This record gives sequence, C-alpha cells and structure tokens, in this order.
Amino acid sequence: MTRTREADPTLYDLHHHGDAEVGPGLVDLAVNVRAGTPPTWLRECLTASLGDLAAYPDPTAATAAVAARHGRPESEVVPTAGGAEGFVLLARALRPRHAVVVHPQFTEPEAALRAAGHEVDRVVLDQGDPHGDLTLDPDAVPASADLVVVGNPTNPSSVRHPAAVLATLARPGRTLVVDEAFIDTAPGEPDSLAERRDLPGLVVLRSLTKTWGLAGLRVGYALAPAELARALRAAAPRWSVSTPALVALEACSTEGARAEADHAARIVKADRDHLVATLEKLPGLEVRGTPAASFVLVRTPGRSDVRERLRERGLAVRRGDTFPGLDVEHVRIAVRSSDITDHLVATLREIL
Ligand SMILES: Cc1ncc(COP(=O)(O)O)c(C=O)c1O
Repeated sequence: MTRTREADPTLYDLHHHGDAEVGPGLVDLAVNVRAGTPPTWLRECLTASLGDLAAYPDPTAATAAVAARHGRPESEVVPTAGGAEGFVLLARALRPRHAVVVHPQFTEPEAALRAAGHEVDRVVLDQGDPHGDLTLDPDAVPASADLVVVGNPTNPSSVRHPAAVLATLARPGRTLVVDEAFIDTAPGEPDSLAERRDLPGLVVLRSLTKTWGLAGLRVGYALAPAELARALRAAAPRWSVSTPALVALEACSTEGARAEADHAARIVKADRDHLVATLEKLPGLEVRGTPAASFVLVRTPGRSDVRERLRERGLAVRRGDTFPGLDVEHVRIAVRSSDITDHLVATLREIL
C-alpha cells in the first residue's frame, strides 16, 4: 500500500545521518560502511596518487574505466564527489515541474532539490501501515511527475525493488533517478539498472563510500543519457572530484575489485541472514520488509526508547524517525559480524 501526500519539509531533519549516532566507547551499528575498509591495496593506490597532487585532476582514465565496467560510452559517465554531489548536480541541472521522491529513503536527494528551490512531493510507501513490507507500487507515483527519485536497495528499509518494476517508472519527458549506493552490497548486483541504456531519462547514481570505506574521500559517479550527462558536468564545480578520488574510481572498476566486492557482499549476506534470523526470534520486535542490503530496519511496537536504551549499553543504532514515513518505533541496524550481532540481540532481549 502506498499513497502520496503533501510534503511538510519541517517535520523531518533531512540532514540527520548515521554518523551523528556514533561516538567514543560506542559500538557502531549506525553507519553502513563496510568494516575493515579501505583495503590495503586501495590505500596504497591512494598514497601513490599523492605524488600527483600538484596537477589539476584529469577524469579521463576513471571515466573510461567506469564506462568499460558498465558497457556504456564515456559520454554517459560523470564522476562525482560521492552520491551526495550527484543529487546536487541533478537539482541544479534539472527544472522539474513535479519532483517526486519515494520515501522512506535517504533524505539528501530531497534536501538537495529543496536547496535548489524546487518543490518536492513525497510518495510515502506504506504510510500508516506499520506492517507493510515497503515494496514499491509504481502506480502510486503520479503520472504528472517529471522527476522521480528512488533508492535501490533503499536506505533505510534495505528493500530491493525489482528492476522490472523500476523500469515501468521510466518514460519520455521524465527523469528517473535510481540511487544505487548500496547495490554492490548484494552478490552480482541484482536489479541494477546501471547497464540499461534503453530506458528514457534514466540516471543511475553510484557510490564508492559503502563497499570500499571511502566516505571521507568523496567519490561516486552518475550514469545518464549523454545529453543529461553533459548537463550534469556543466552544473559541477570545476575539478570537484579530486585526483585520489579518480584513482580510487579507476582502481575499483577493475574485474579484480569487482570480484572482491562480490566476495564481501557474500559475507554481508551470511551476516545479515544471521542477524535477521536472531532478530526474528525476539518478542516485541518486527523486521520491516525483506532486507537485501547491509542494514536492517526494525520496529518495536509500543516502544520508542529502544535506541536510547541500546545507547546506554554502548550500542549505537540509527534512529528511524528522521525518515519521512517512519517514527520513533523504528531503528536501522547495520549488519556486522556474528559476535557483534549476538551481543546486540542479547542486549535487545534484555531491553524488550
Ligand atoms: C542511500 C544512500 N545514497 C547515497 C548516499 C551518499 O553517499 P556518498 O555521498 O558518500 O557517496 C548515502 C550515504 O549515506 C546513502 O545512504
């Protein structure tokens, strides 16, 4: 069940993110960056790139590497300073008459649109239905929308929408933005639209932050039809993607890096299966939807204090109530190794 409603931007803190939840002495179950990253070989690439810092960045090699990886022409690739810059470039380059953001999802796309002066309409999945599975009903997106933003898999629900369902949202006269920041947390990147050149107005945003542990470097990219890619480049500050970021982009686009990411995704899957199986045994707690990424959204009916109680016991999880469509009974939990998960679940059992 989905429905649209008028957005009230003042109700939610769109700039609250998991990093605000962590602190000294707390186990971090709030930030969804892969543990133990960046890997040594990638650190070495970054260190070696420092010798080139006196020159302005040249995106040619990184752009070619991404294009080859996704089987697209270089004209359709735009390196960005993280997915976050991708949202800002889209907000600057486009003049939507009816922008729609599908929630609950990462809030920076909406924040970027609003900051650029656009009005934003929200489609809130399962509004008022705390048992809904947060899957996407494409019919809930108004036909008049000329810009639609969806996350896949979606943060914070961890739900992955089928590629075929997303594809039905693409049409001439509409820009469809699919944020795939977490798509590489599943082996084989199922349901990715990164290689789909046949869908009109499709923009796929990717990030190196999560899988490669590069939040501080700022690196990602947009894949878009050539004309739109040109507009995104024109909207970007000159040299916004640094030389080390471009080196990382090239290095993480190789077959070997992709195999490593795939291996890491298999571990995420095993760890997530363990987390979900143990959470599901807890009375007083529900897992929302079918988790497919490196985090799980849970609801504790009648309990709005679970995040604070966990925090008192040294465990930081991500609050849910800053996401449109969720409330204080929701928290998002990062997938971690089974020892951390077991400690979390034992603590949750005490609290509940
Ligand atoms: C769903 C989603 N998309 C995009 C981003 C932005 O990531 P970055 O700008 O670091 O690439 C994040 C970061 O938390 C996210 O959760």
